[in-house]
Amino acid sequence: MAELIYSGLTKQFDGAARPALDGIDARIESGEFVALLGPSGCGKTTLLRLTAGFEEPTHGEIRMGATQVAGPGRFVPPEDRGVGIVFQSYALWPHMTVAGNVSYPLEVRGLPRAERARRVDEALALTGLTEFADRAPAQLSGGQRQRVALARCLVAEPRAVLLDEPLANLDLALRASMQDNFTAFHRRTGATMLYVTHDQGEALALATRVAVMEGGRIRQFAAPEVLYSEPVDCFVAGFVGDGAVVSARAAGPLGPGGLEVETMGLRLTARGRAALPTHLCIRPEDVRLTDEGGLRARVRGCTYQGGRFRVALDTGGEDLVAFSRTRLNVGAQVGLRIDRPWAFREPGMPALAVQETAHV
Ligand SMILES: Nc1ncnc2c1ncn2[C@@H]1O[C@H](COP(=O)(O)OP(=O)(O)O)[C@@H](O)[C@H]1O
Ligand SMILES: [Mg+2]
Repeated sequence: MAELIYSGLTKQFDGAARPALDGIDARIESGEFVALLGPSGCGKTTLLRLTAGFEEPTHGEIRMGATQVAGPGRFVPPEDRGVGIVFQSYALWPHMTVAGNVSYPLEVRGLPRAERARRVDEALALTGLTEFADRAPAQLSGGQRQRVALARCLVAEPRAVLLDEPLANLDLALRASMQDNFTAFHRRTGATMLYVTHDQGEALALATRVAVMEGGRIRQFAAPEVLYSEPVDCFVAGFVGDGAVVSARAAGPLGPGGLEVETMGLRLTARGRAALPTHLCIRPEDVRLTDEGGLRARVRGCTYQGGRFRVALDTGGEDLVAFSRTRLNVGAQVGLRIDRPWAFREPGMPALAVQETAHV
């Protein structure tokens, strides 16, 4: 296994108005399980294809461990990069058995029969497919076929495993069980895994770190809980997790406990690292419904989420989300208090501090 290092990686397709990848700098440690998360068209597949060697970068470089695999004047072809790839269409050979499919990459490489048999048995065991070895792909469920694709990728002992929306074709229940399969697979193999998805639930559940992409750039690359509690910009704050993004400005100095901010005509204490924030990310957990709260809001909607209700609120300008243990009536007026939301500065946006006193 090897780490993957991207430096200034840019991909401009001929005739495209904007680069598909725009200066990607990132480092994925050996054995890490990283998800690339972002809306359709943000460049996830392009980053995977460049990593695999199906495309050449326009600028920048990719290293796998000590080896530069793509960069100025250098391009290592896919077959010499030692990466395994799993697509959402399983791309199995229908006329071969499960074992035949898994064995095929080793036959191509001319490995001796006994070595092949040993490695195929191992890969089938790792993916829980031993009892299906002699079946044809048509006799398998979607989840089982995806496991065959995983076994076939694994048998070649890749340095990294790249997965492009591998569960997109499966129904919801099967996706959940396949997610457990991927986690177990990663635990057993210790493979470096790069997992592309537009499904945030999947990314947050599976990966140890998530790179949130938008417009060919990585906006934030962090552990799921950090993306959720400390988003760096409006895009990440809005794309990951539930809640609201509202504008705010500093009303006091930044201290170890956070800072005073003004928002929605209210002063409150926020968490943060920016001295001059422009926005707050207010998660439902940060909003407490209480008649003593300094803010009034109207209930716009109330939906049961199992164990609690999700309440959409209108403060008369901003929309917030709160959780409630009891059902609230649409149209009802409630009081609320906002408790230590996350304050951040939107890059490229001018920030204002509240003037404490007017100097004449
Ligand atoms: N071969 C190509 N030629 C021209 N444009 C492409 C090509 N492949 C992808 N693109 C464009 O690059 C951008 C990123 O695409 P892609 O990496 O497939 O996004 P994602 O996988 O995140 O949905 C899109 O605007 C897409 O239209
Ligand atoms: Mg894609």
